[in-house]
Amino acid sequence: MGQPLNVGVVGCGAISAQYLATIDRLPGLRLAAVADLDPGRAAAAVAAWPGTPVLPAADLMADPGVDVVLNLTVPAAHAEVALQAIAAGKDVYGEKPLAANSADAARVLRAAEAAGVRVGCAPDTVLGTGTQTARKAVDDGLIGRPVAATATMVTAGHERWHPNPDFYYVPGGGPLLDMGPYYVTSLVTLLGPVTSVIGAASRLRGKRTIGSGPRRGEEIPVSVDTHVTGVLVHDSGALSTLVMSFDAAATRAPNIEVHGERGSLVVPDPNHFDGVVQLSAVGDAGWRDLPDSAGYVAAGRGVGLADLAATPAGEEPRASGTLAFHVLDVMESLLASAASGAAVTVASTCERPSPVPLLAL
Ligand SMILES: NC(=O)c1ccc[n+]([C@@H]2O[C@H](COP(=O)([O-])OP(=O)(O)OC[C@H]3O[C@@H](n4cnc5c(N)ncnc54)[C@H](O)[C@@H]3O)[C@@H](O)[C@H]2O)c1
Repeated sequence: MGQPLNVGVVGCGAISAQYLATIDRLPGLRLAAVADLDPGRAAAAVAAWPGTPVLPAADLMADPGVDVVLNLTVPAAHAEVALQAIAAGKDVYGEKPLAANSADAARVLRAAEAAGVRVGCAPDTVLGTGTQTARKAVDDGLIGRPVAATATMVTAGHERWHPNPDFYYVPGGGPLLDMGPYYVTSLVTLLGPVTSVIGAASRLRGKRTIGSGPRRGEEIPVSVDTHVTGVLVHDSGALSTLVMSFDAAATRAPNIEVHGERGSLVVPDPNHFDGVVQLSAVGDAGWRDLPDSAGYVAAGRGVGLADLAATPAGEEPRASGTLAFHVLDVMESLLASAASGAAVTVASTCERPSPVPLLAL
């Protein structure tokens, strides 16, 4: 694999620990420095790696010892931080969504192309054995021609556990932009790009109450729809039905099902790397588990960055900016359709990322 990629982490909040653990165990990645608007938070995040430089973000980006900026800030800051990294000549890999809106995301991709640097974006969970085994089952023809999929994510709201949940309830958040990237990226991986959408959305209440941490009991405003439904029309002709909600208690619906002319698949939670894929062919009495047959084994958040590090120059990494842009465009189009009441054509497209063979990290 050659020299490891030196990673500078910007944004050291709740999710950063999972990335730091992955960087620590993968030989292709090396932690070079960290930054956060709150330097104390950055220092606390690297307490287990003494000597890791804690820098202002601008210094981290200017540091020649940093090859790639790992952008783990809140969605509203994703574009600004990515553009700063690109201006400093660095590759950038970020948390989802690629930006809070597709106009900002387009600016990021244009700047990266002009600067000759690469952009990667979460989710990389879909590179794990769960979604990849399901994708191989589809590609191998186990369900015949895919006809439809359903994707369901419901929760009563992340403010019940996240100590600073404000970003979930402003543009760039909401159930669709927060959790939708996992589901839409999985659906694009399984069934290919989306050409048009029909959406509908609602909002249960205008305020949420923080349920944990020092701000417990504080009310925060809600400025986005918190229950979003819709239909995605894939270029292949397959139709995916989506329900993304912060307004419901629980569900017994599978995270994702894919139906084909000869069988149906249960696809594991796309917010996790692994899980059991189940198949029921037409005429079968029940479901049978499929063994893991593709995907990064025992993966963790950051494997998409390792995948980018291992991607030869000039080739698109699997968790690419182009894919993340299409996913954001699909989600934004769904919200536009919900607002207008009319179907919306999705302007962007992308290639299905190349499949991941069964690979131990
Ligand atoms: N929390 C989770 O379980 C989770 C899971 C998957 C993905 N994510 C994604 O990860 C990202 C971060 O989520 P989080 O839960 O860690 O949020 P968080 O609020 O806990 O942490 C974000 C951190 O970024 C810092 N920050 C914000 N703007 C900055 C800037 N301009 N420069 C430097 N630092 C800046 C904040 O000070 C904060 O420490 C989001 O995009 C979220 O969707 C979170």
